[in-house]
Amino acid sequence: MSDAESRGVPHDALSAVGARRRLQIERLVAGGDALARDTDGRVVFVDTGLPGETIEAEFVEVKRDFARARTLRVVAASPVRVTPPCRHVADGCGGCDWQHLAAHAQHDAKAAVVREAFARTARLPEAPIVRGGAVSHDASRTTVRMAVTPSGRLGFRRASSHESVEIEQCLVMHPLLQSLVSTVGVRGDGEVTLRCSVATGERAVWSHDKARVLGLPDDVAAGAAAVVHEDVAGARLRVSMASFFQASPQAAELLVDAVARAAGNALDGRDGVVVDAYGGVGLFAATVVPIGVQCVLVESSESACSDAYENLRGRSAMVMHTRFEHWRAVRAGLVIADPARSGLGKAGVTTLLDTAAPTVVLVSCDAVAAARDARLLVDAGYDLVNAEVLDLFPHTHHVEVVSHFVRD
Ligand SMILES: C[S@@+](CC[C@H](N)C(=O)[O-])C[C@H]1O[C@@H](n2cnc3c(N)ncnc32)[C@H](O)[C@@H]1O
Repeated sequence: MSDAESRGVPHDALSAVGARRRLQIERLVAGGDALARDTDGRVVFVDTGLPGETIEAEFVEVKRDFARARTLRVVAASPVRVTPPCRHVADGCGGCDWQHLAAHAQHDAKAAVVREAFARTARLPEAPIVRGGAVSHDASRTTVRMAVTPSGRLGFRRASSHESVEIEQCLVMHPLLQSLVSTVGVRGDGEVTLRCSVATGERAVWSHDKARVLGLPDDVAAGAAAVVHEDVAGARLRVSMASFFQASPQAAELLVDAVARAAGNALDGRDGVVVDAYGGVGLFAATVVPIGVQCVLVESSESACSDAYENLRGRSAMVMHTRFEHWRAVRAGLVIADPARSGLGKAGVTTLLDTAAPTVVLVSCDAVAAARDARLLVDAGYDLVNAEVLDLFPHTHHVEVVSHFVRD
């Protein structure tokens, strides 16, 4: 019996916003929260709990089917709970939401979230989920999107808030960007993307909304069309500020490895062209696909397409500037698909099926989207060979899943 039941407190009173309760954390869920249950079994998402912990929490949102609560006090801590290594977490910075989980336990925790998603959402409880590569925990990000603080500096959003927190020393930011953040001021409001290259030392900024960055050092390029060049797996890639790029070259290289491993012999082009769907600046087409094998890159961003066009010069590659779901599919031997967070969805899967590709490598940056797409592909006749879980974003819940499907 719960404390409240023993005191005869009606359950509705417990579940109201502002109610304080002791909660037992069951597990971590996609999105980073911890899952506990209210006395009636309803799910409560708790912001910083860890499996096995008892947390004293305050309800901050109550819906018909679930509630949200914030941790007030850890009553019984998990052995893998640590003091966040970055001091800005205490200031409220929401940039890295898993700093309270020991670095060595983060990859397994992500694999557990993916396993759960494949069991529940994909209804594939036996899915072979394996641990793939991980960037080192001190690996730094070469692209960051920051918010303007009220004092005219660059910072990150507070957890679950639009407010921003000023940052002096970010644990996960590349030193070339860190020194930029310490130097510049910002006028106006909104967000700014910063990017640097490990290979060349180039730096660039792109102000979204109405923000204006002041005091930029001479070497820093500015605007959506500013470019940096990065080296990944032996390929030099042009990356414009308005184009998507992975968090760092180290992260990109681990993804390239995982995709190449999953694609295997299907990369030889014998079964047909390779389609690099949601191909961005051509990361996979320029590294994984052998020179001489015909490749079609499909991408909706004009900026990424013009980068890809440059990056794939000299290869048997075609760049199609269109949404994947609007693309008139060609027969393919292999589709590598790396959609945005929402996944392929039915529309993307329909186009993918039109390629009749016997091998599909799906790169997903969301565990539930990966599982949803896996179910759609399995229903369409594909077998899941395995799904590799990569840890490319230390100290956060963010995960990458590379799933390998085959069909006769
Ligand atoms: C996660 S990124 C992957 C890019 C690339 N594979 C890489 O690893 O650098 C997803 C890419 O899909 C593009 N995109 C988003 N929606 C799309 C759509 N409906 N059709 C085609 N491309 C899309 C984005 O512009 C972005 O470049």
